[in-house]
Amino acid sequence: MILAPSILSADFGRLGEEIQAAERGGAGAVHVDVMDGHFVPNLTVGPVVVKAARRATQLPIDVHLMIENADRYVDAFRDAGADWISVHVEALPHLQRTLAHVRQRGAAPGVVLNPSTPLGSLEEILAEVDYVLVMSVNPGFGGQAFLPASLDKVRRLSALIRSRGVSVRIEVDGGIDAGNARSLIDAGAEILVAGNAVFGRGQAETDARLIVEACR
Ligand code: DX5
Ligand code: ZN
Repeated sequence: MILAPSILSADFGRLGEEIQAAERGGAGAVHVDVMDGHFVPNLTVGPVVVKAARRATQLPIDVHLMIENADRYVDAFRDAGADWISVHVEALPHLQRTLAHVRQRGAAPGVVLNPSTPLGSLEEILAEVDYVLVMSVNPGFGGQAFLPASLDKVRRLSALIRSRGVSVRIEVDGGIDAGNARSLIDAGAEILVAGNAVFGRGQAETDARLIVEACR
């Protein structure tokens, strides 16, 4: 299991320390939520913050692009130090091209599904990705409640991946904490994003460890 704390809920004045605390607590990647105020209602960060995170840790930097025209920004995020780059299937008309570009730049390509987006939308693209990110909240804000239907979606996705015989990891993002993490791992997820549950109480090391231990 890989815990990927979302820095969206971190104290940005102490970003490096926050990331290092989560790492001491067992985090295995750092999740960066990029929002453009168009694809989602909120605005967050760009490549300069990825660059700052890159300086703070050797862990993989997992960049989740919630933006329109994501293909225009892949190079900038890769140059800033992104190791994994995921894009929403709902946002891109030429998804295959974008994913191929991410891979060609040496990063791991992932696709993201909103809660209302069916697994069927992966049909033609599953073989091209390293991971599928299942949103368990509607993207835009940290601290939202986990949508319970996501658990069955992860189970069905896990079955689909097995039936296709492809090597694709499942990541889940939104409303994850020490109370529901284990059930997602049991359902077939390998990478869990958590923002509020890691950084919300100002004790990232302790709270990251709680989630990692809940999955043992
Ligand atoms: C939601 C983001 C998530 C979010 C997770 O739009 O993609 O990564 O920050 O935060 P929590 O764990 O607080 O739901
Ligand atoms: Zn995210």
